[in-house]
Amino acid sequence: MGNKMWGGRFTQQPDAILEEINASIDFDRRLYAQDIAGSRAHVTMLAETGIVGREDAEKIVQGLDTILSEIAAGEFEFSRALEDIHMNIEARLADLIGPAAGRLHTARSRNDQIATDFRLYIRDVIDGIDAALAGLQGALAEKALENAATVMPGFTHLQSAQPVTFGHHLMAYVEMLGRDRGRFADARRRLNECPLGAAALAGTSFPIDREQTAKALGFDRPAANSLDAVSDRDFVIETLAAASIAAMHLSRLAEELVIWCTAQFGFVRLSDRFTTGSSIMPQKRNPDAAELVRAKTGRIIGALNALLVVMKGLPLAYSKDMQEDKEPAFDALDAFEIVVAATTGMIADMEVDAKAMKKAAGSGHSTATDLADWLVRVLGLPFRDAHHVTGAIVAKAADNGKPLDRLPLADMQAVEPRITEDVFSVLSVEKSVKSRTSFGGTAPANVRRAARAWMKRLAREAKMRA
Ligand code: ARG
Repeated sequence: MGNKMWGGRFTQQPDAILEEINASIDFDRRLYAQDIAGSRAHVTMLAETGIVGREDAEKIVQGLDTILSEIAAGEFEFSRALEDIHMNIEARLADLIGPAAGRLHTARSRNDQIATDFRLYIRDVIDGIDAALAGLQGALAEKALENAATVMPGFTHLQSAQPVTFGHHLMAYVEMLGRDRGRFADARRRLNECPLGAAALAGTSFPIDREQTAKALGFDRPAANSLDAVSDRDFVIETLAAASIAAMHLSRLAEELVIWCTAQFGFVRLSDRFTTGSSIMPQKRNPDAAELVRAKTGRIIGALNALLVVMKGLPLAYSKDMQEDKEPAFDALDAFEIVVAATTGMIADMEVDAKAMKKAAGSGHSTATDLADWLVRVLGLPFRDAHHVTGAIVAKAADNGKPLDRLPLADMQAVEPRITEDVFSVLSVEKSVKSRTSFGGTAPANVRRAARAWMKRLAREAKMRA
C-alpha cells in the first residue's frame, strides 16, 4: 500500500527521491493556522448545508482545535511521507477522532485548499507590512521635521546641483513609501476572494455554500471561476512586485546612508546599534545593516522573477509546479520585513551633522541657479542669457577659489555691469532653500507642513489599526 491519503490504486511505495522532490511539509507547515482556519470554515459550512452530520462536524472542529494547539506548542510530529501540511493535519485528525475525519475532505481538494491557505497567509503578511511601512514613514517624517531647515547639497548625477534641506530629502522617501503602501493595499484588495469550493478545478456537485465560507474567512466574495481560483498565483506575484518596488526604494536610501556616513561625506552618523567594527582596522564603523538592506533587495527581486518564470508556461488548471511559489515567497517576504525594520532602526537612531552638510551645500557653486534667477527677475534678462552670464561669473569664482557668495561685486560687474549689491540676498544656501516655496519645493516651511501632515495622517491610521 502506498500513501494512505491517496494510495488506493497504488501497489508500490513512492521512491525516496520522489518524496524528496515532492514533499513540501518542511516549508508549508508555516501555513498550519491558515489551513486549520480554512478547514474549520469548510466543515462548519458542510454541517450547515447538511452535507456532513452535526456530530461528525463537531468532532472534526474539536480535533482541529487540538491540532492547532499541538502545532503551536511544538508538539506536533510532521511527517514527510505525508507530503504537505494538508495531509499531515488530516492524518492527525484521523488519529484523534477516527473515521469521521474522512468527511472533512468532502467537496474540497488540496488545490482549493492551498489556494485559500496561501491567500490568507499573504493577506496577513500584507497587513503586517503596511503597519511596518507606516512606522518607517513616521520615523522619516520625525527626522524630517527636526531637519526641516538643515541645508544639504541636492544632487543630480551625484554632482552638487542646488541646495536642498535634509528634511525635504527624507520626505521624498515618505512619499515613495506612501505609494508602496498603496501597491500592497491594491494587491490585498484583489487577492481577497475565496477559492474554497472550487475543489480540484471544476467545482462540486455537493450543495455547498461558498458565500458562507468566504465570509467566515474574511474574504470579500467567493472567486467567480473555479479554474482561475485554483490555478493562479498572481496574488503572490503582485505582492512580490510591490515588495520589490518598495525594497528598491529602501535600497536607494540604504545606498545614500552608506555614502553619507563615509568620512568623505560625514553627513550622518549611524548609531552603534546599526554599525559594526572591523577586526583589523580599529577606526572603522561599517554600515552593514544598510549594505544588507541594499543586498536583500536582490533576493526579493529574484523571488519575483522566480515566480513569474514558474508560472509562465503552465496550462490551466493546477500543476505541481505551483508548489514552488512558497519558498521564494516566504524567503522574500521575511527578507522584506527585516529590511523595513532595519531601515526604521537606522533612521530613528541616525545623527545628523548639520555643519558638514551645510559646508558641502555651499561648495560647487550650488547657488548658481539662484544667481541666474536673480538676473531674470531683477534685470529682466531672458533665462538663457542669464544662464550664460552666470556661467562666466562661476568661472571667475572658480579661478579665484571663492564660493559665489564671497566673490567681490566688482568681479560680477565685470561680467554684467548692472548687477547690484542686492544679488547677495540670494547667494547663500539658506536663502536659496528658503526661496524655494513653490508647491512641493524644498523651503523649510514646506517641509514642516508636509512632515506634520504625514504625521497626522499616520497617527490617524494607527488609531484605526488599533
Ligand atoms: N502542496 C501543494 C502545493 O503547495 C498542495 C496542492 C497539491 N495538490 C495536488 N493535487 N497534488 O501546491
